[in-house]
Amino acid sequence: MITSRSAILLDAQSKGYAVPAFNIHNLETMKTVLETAQELRSPVMIAVTPSTVRYIGQDFLIGMMEASKKSYDIPICFHLDHHEKVEDIKTLIQMGISSVMIDASHYDFEENVRIVHEVVEYAAPFGVAVEAELGRLSGIEDDLEVDERDQIYTNPMQAQEFVSRTGIDSLAVAIGTAHGLYKGEPKLDIDRLAAIQREVNIPLVLHGASGLPDDLVQRTIERGICKVNIATELKMAFVKGLRGYLHEHPDANDPRYYFQEAVIEMKKVVADKIKMCGSVNRG
Ligand code: 13P
Ligand code: ZN
Ligand code: NA
Repeated sequence: MITSRSAILLDAQSKGYAVPAFNIHNLETMKTVLETAQELRSPVMIAVTPSTVRYIGQDFLIGMMEASKKSYDIPICFHLDHHEKVEDIKTLIQMGISSVMIDASHYDFEENVRIVHEVVEYAAPFGVAVEAELGRLSGIEDDLEVDERDQIYTNPMQAQEFVSRTGIDSLAVAIGTAHGLYKGEPKLDIDRLAAIQREVNIPLVLHGASGLPDDLVQRTIERGICKVNIATELKMAFVKGLRGYLHEHPDANDPRYYFQEAVIEMKKVVADKIKMCGSVNRG
């Protein structure tokens, strides 16, 4: 079952849980996410950055999406994460992707509005939901590097204007999260999130969830976060399992075996994050 992202996020918003969005890079990761979500009957989002689309290939990506539709009966949404090129987004919408993030958050406010609005106008007739970001995260996400000093948190009043002028379906907020792990103890501006929630009535998105304690993420879900993005912890689990297996079996050469431990390690992370999001038995 593939549902538009808007529908699954609106369900989460009305019931007070969040949909976990996992960044995937290959077939093993995608299948592990979907199988675990199916076991826990959780709706789930499969997120791909521009470099992942390049790595997998557009046609293979769409093929994986179509196969998922046939193989699982939970709400699944394939989502373009941190896409910056409007032309690439349009191509993938034409190919059938159901949910996109246009990330123009590095531009000034007016330019961000203009670019995001263009994507919303294009996506609407296709029934494709659009996420955009206001404010900046620190940390590194694939090709993106944002100097920590440039981090600007989302302004609640500006967020309200941004949402009404662009017509987006969900808003990624900058409240102190960062991509990757955190150097010290992560500190989130929960009061700011509460203020954003008061001004904005669409589902809010938390980027950079790897490295955040469960109870902190849950406090954000209580204040309007309906989608939680997880990338780094899944990558770490994959390589941990793989390393462990190769250490035990230095002569291993069959990927069907040496990926097994990677799958087991990823499964634990996926299950934990689904439980953290409160999305068990919502699918
Ligand atoms: P993490 O790598 O911190 O989990 O961030 C994921 C993310 O925000 C993907 O867009
Ligand atoms: Zn992100
Ligand atoms: Na993070």
